[in-house]
Amino acid sequence: MTTILPKNPSFSKILLFIILTLSSAYAANAAAKITGLKCEYLINPISMDSPHPRLMWVMDDARQGAKQTAYQLSVSTDSVELSKGIANTWQTVKVVSGNSRVNYNGKALQPYTKYYWRVAVWDKDRKSDISAIASFETGLMDKSNWKGTWISDNNDANAKPAPYFRNSFDLTKKIKSARAYIAVAGLYELYINGEKIGNHRLDPMYTRFDRRTLYVTYDVTAQLQSGKNAVGVLLGNGWYNHQSTAVWYFDKSPWRNRPAFCLDLRVTYEDGTTETISSNKKWKTALSPVIFNSIYTAEHYDARLEQPGWNKPNFIDTAWKSVINRQAPSLNIVAQTMQPIRAVEKIPAQSIKKLDDKTYLYDLGRNISGVSSITVKGEAGTIIRLKHAEKLGKNGYVDQSNIDLHYRPTDDKDPFQTDIFILSGKGEETFMPRFNYKGFQYVEVSSDKPINLTKESLTGYFMHSDVEPAGTISSSNNTLNKIWQATNNSYLSNFFGYPTDCPQREKNGWTGDAHIASETGLYNFDGITIYEKWMADHRDEQQPNGVLPSIIPSNGWGYEWGNGPDWTSTIAIIPWNLYMFYGDSKTLGDNYEAIKRYVNHINDLYPTGLTTWGLGDWVPVKAVSPVEFTSSAYYFTDVSILAKAAKLFGRADDQKTYEALALKIKNAINAKYLNTATGIYDKGYQTELSVPLYWGIVPDSLKHKVATRLAERVKQDNNHLDAGILGAKAILSALSDNGYADVAYSIASQETFPSWGWWIVNGATTLYENWDITAKSDLSLNHIMFGEIGAWYFKGIGGIKPDPKSPGFKNVLLTPNFIEKLDHFESEHTGPYGKIISSWKRKGSTVEYSVTVPANSTATVFFPAGKKVMAHSGQVNAENGLKITSGDYVYLIK
Ligand code: BGC
Repeated sequence: MTTILPKNPSFSKILLFIILTLSSAYAANAAAKITGLKCEYLINPISMDSPHPRLMWVMDDARQGAKQTAYQLSVSTDSVELSKGIANTWQTVKVVSGNSRVNYNGKALQPYTKYYWRVAVWDKDRKSDISAIASFETGLMDKSNWKGTWISDNNDANAKPAPYFRNSFDLTKKIKSARAYIAVAGLYELYINGEKIGNHRLDPMYTRFDRRTLYVTYDVTAQLQSGKNAVGVLLGNGWYNHQSTAVWYFDKSPWRNRPAFCLDLRVTYEDGTTETISSNKKWKTALSPVIFNSIYTAEHYDARLEQPGWNKPNFIDTAWKSVINRQAPSLNIVAQTMQPIRAVEKIPAQSIKKLDDKTYLYDLGRNISGVSSITVKGEAGTIIRLKHAEKLGKNGYVDQSNIDLHYRPTDDKDPFQTDIFILSGKGEETFMPRFNYKGFQYVEVSSDKPINLTKESLTGYFMHSDVEPAGTISSSNNTLNKIWQATNNSYLSNFFGYPTDCPQREKNGWTGDAHIASETGLYNFDGITIYEKWMADHRDEQQPNGVLPSIIPSNGWGYEWGNGPDWTSTIAIIPWNLYMFYGDSKTLGDNYEAIKRYVNHINDLYPTGLTTWGLGDWVPVKAVSPVEFTSSAYYFTDVSILAKAAKLFGRADDQKTYEALALKIKNAINAKYLNTATGIYDKGYQTELSVPLYWGIVPDSLKHKVATRLAERVKQDNNHLDAGILGAKAILSALSDNGYADVAYSIASQETFPSWGWWIVNGATTLYENWDITAKSDLSLNHIMFGEIGAWYFKGIGGIKPDPKSPGFKNVLLTPNFIEKLDHFESEHTGPYGKIISSWKRKGSTVEYSVTVPANSTATVFFPAGKKVMAHSGQVNAENGLKITSGDYVYLIK
């Protein structure tokens, strides 16, 4: 017998039935609403080059069992006609399907065209409302459509000041709409008639410039006017022209040059004609007040050199110079189809301290990636230095020793993470760097002449790829909640159009750090557009023999160091995770040949199935595990992913080949390292027991034994971690997936060394690079490589997991663990179908577990062994787990 339980079990049964009746009556009248229309995972994007963009929607329907039974898509260039049901571009039949993401497959899309679309969805029993109209707009679609010329000024790559460019022009007819398309080697700011266009920062995103260049599109209809107009461009260096001598020789990048750009400003008139104003030899150039800019170190700005009105129509530019034509940086110029970097959060200074006559110290109260902005008044020529750091020295001044160690300046003109602002003396002046970001909590502001500063004079801006939050957790343990926040802070601090290791010391796309953090990212943020772009970066960097560099993008460094499978498995793991979280196999398909080439190469080099290629369990506590062991586990993972992808794409021969190879690797690892009698791998360290459990290497019959050895090992290690980044990735789930969730929790909730909590009780607001906070090296205070814990909360406590058989949370696997030491735990993740909630709280000796599954998806609940479901809401027990659909459910567990 099943009983419906209200969320408050003190209600009487009679009341319960009344509630049920009311809600059923309400449900009978309710209809599904179609929301969340996106194209290529973006809302109404205007920069599409793809001939078959992905269209997607969400069914909002709280009724029990709500699902989509069919859909019909309509696409048209005419929104008015479309609202009447007429579609001139694509109209599907009524497709009987639960799919809510479909590739556009109508008439060939034309460049520069806005397409409107909507979808009708049939729900479980009748046709629903049709969605509102959404749109997507194509960009240039083909490089032959560019009209502009790549231009720059006549300086070489070593010239310091950033160049301005301007052009003025007349528009005589009535403007209907206008778009600016700008492709840049370097970074840019675009202005029309004095107004800065858009709020992106550090655009375009970093790619391997000589292989792929991104262009950005803006709607500039509002900024143009009939009559005289002016367009201005300021170019920054970014990674394209790395002048600072820093780690991994970016100053010697093969693509390095003075920044250049190509711009098409395409105006459509009311009469239907178009006109394009482009970059060409008519443009003029001059040096700007940005006298130095380095993505890695800082920006220097001399306000005395400002030229008011430089980007406005009536500016007299006779003193400006002619531009030069330049070669395009690559032949592959494609639309930037992703969330941009923005200054997402404004962070007021928490305190200000006067350290001496000329020096103030600001504390933001938390560690961030981004910039600071200062507003100040002073005498012309006053030089203000803003030195950014993560920590303070004993003397109270900032201390950069943990982050500047890779920096090798040749003189003192380019200090690390230190902006230089020279005042014009014209009243109150504000400076915020445009072409740089830093990792910092403290800013030490010094000046060569006394200035007066208040707490409000300086503000921090947290910058990162502006991805939507997609997950939250909260629990009765405040340290746990703080670790989750710190993990997200570090994840975002390391998300700048590509995942990075740290926002200060390197800012590099270290592959190992990124695959470790990818699930944490995907549970907590809707970051697919950034990962898809980064996987394209991978394909740009891959050698014909399959080898990838350890940092991506790379300037050529990294093909010889650090690039074994324990790091560069990003090529397989990230597309697989995207498939799991979004149910979208596009990137897996795009990377298929690349993964194959990669594993074939390892197979050629290491025919036994065991590979010693890799860095191993990086930054461990004390136990050191064999590199061969961990690298072979990642090699196995890549081959297994390839075999699963082969199955998915119907590549039967490949499937056979790679299933056999995976088995060979697994057998080789087990033959050499596993003692089947004891259930111990190698020396039995935490990493050695958890890596094979996590990655599916342990024979099924021995899983319990190995997990028990792991639990014993953890107890022996005093319930503390003894692992580096590869072990820390595996250990929590290895325990919680095998009946030892409470042991996992004992590690995850530690507050003494070594643990995540130890960082928190010592004031961390981000994750660190080293368990030992007194370490002399490897101590950035903003690394994400120990960030798996942010995914584990969802997997190991809330138990929200994608189902490999029905990915993208079409079916959700719910495996909650009711941790003894927690009173309550709530987790929410918004997947492609909507919000999934798994939460529980203790009520005396029982646990009340409640779950929400969005419409058009299902879930299978597995309760921990030994727990009895006392009551649940009206569902049938499936053979494996409890099958449920949308609607709110509450379970009582004993
Ligand atoms: C980076 C790491 C990276 C490692 C590889 C370090 O310098 O900061 O996060 O994975 O090198 O060895």
